[in-house]
Amino acid sequence: MLIMNRTSSDPKPSEITSESAYNSRRAFLKNASLGSIALGSGALSLPAWAAGAYESASVDRSTPAWLATKIAQRKVASSNPTGETITPYEAASTYNNFYEFGTGKSDPANYSDDLVTDPWKVQVGGLCENPGNYQLEDFIKPYKLEDRIYRFRCVEAWSMVVPWLGFELADILRAAKPTSKARFVKFTTLERPSQMPGQKTAALDWPYIESLRLDEARHPLALMAVGMYGRSLPNQNGAPLRLIVPWKYGFKSIKSIVKIEFTNKAPITTWLGLAPREYGFYANVNPAVSHPRWSQARERRLPNSLFSPNWVDTKLFNGYSEVAPLYKTMDLKKFF
Ligand code: MTE
Repeated sequence: MLIMNRTSSDPKPSEITSESAYNSRRAFLKNASLGSIALGSGALSLPAWAAGAYESASVDRSTPAWLATKIAQRKVASSNPTGETITPYEAASTYNNFYEFGTGKSDPANYSDDLVTDPWKVQVGGLCENPGNYQLEDFIKPYKLEDRIYRFRCVEAWSMVVPWLGFELADILRAAKPTSKARFVKFTTLERPSQMPGQKTAALDWPYIESLRLDEARHPLALMAVGMYGRSLPNQNGAPLRLIVPWKYGFKSIKSIVKIEFTNKAPITTWLGLAPREYGFYANVNPAVSHPRWSQARERRLPNSLFSPNWVDTKLFNGYSEVAPLYKTMDLKKFF
């Protein structure tokens, strides 16, 4: 995301998967062991809206039995509310941003296999009545999982449509009970350089941190995801627990979360701290506010290649206009 030599609205070449790289990745996936699928059969069933989106996926991480059971019991989406084509799983899981595994788009898929995501602990703290340290299984036990099919728009002007799977962030707030002093919720990613090779570099300040205002966090669209495409999250997409905020640029959707804290002051989030003129705290998708180095008016829908960028027009709030009341007193050009 921090690409100092870019001046035009064109994406930099390395951000676009070349046809040959894409094809060789496909070949690799096709040759990969089908035997590595380790899920309960219920977790694999997907309704008609997903037709074609998953058929080429042939590798998967193992899923703990408790999570496979919960996924199998989820509320399955009966339709696709975006009305847009679901991005193939293969594209959504091989073209990623997860700097803990490197800055290249294929680094997360290539280098995240060794990340151990079970057992996994989540700490809840700060200004709240019910702090605690949980095993992930206990943390999500009270919540019923469901499919949520969302558009997802990266600040780099690529996008996808993904059937995430999880529960509302608002559920966590209801359980943790932030005090009257709390105004923000802060999320922290795991810091484990032995399994996250990117953390041995100075690509970012580790650990990765993100935050939302409490009223944003309570919005029913804000999702805590534990899966996508009817199965658990692959490591490269933020296993085992990540945030999805579909009306904001993708960097707000922090991956592999280990800590959730309630604060009085707005935390200095990772990208804001690194380049405050380029990445704002709010980061609401807005085609009218250009990034200092490129236009945000359009986006390249995955899968894309140098030869078929597949441009679509970007919408305010990524099309989720129901969040507009959260910002009615704010100048969206100023609070980018
Ligand atoms: N979370 C962590 N911990 N580290 C990251 O580098 N990248 C962000 C976000 N969450 C990132 C992260 C960015 S820039 C984007 S666009 C999305 O994850 C990408 O999510 P995806 O790889 O599942 O598409």
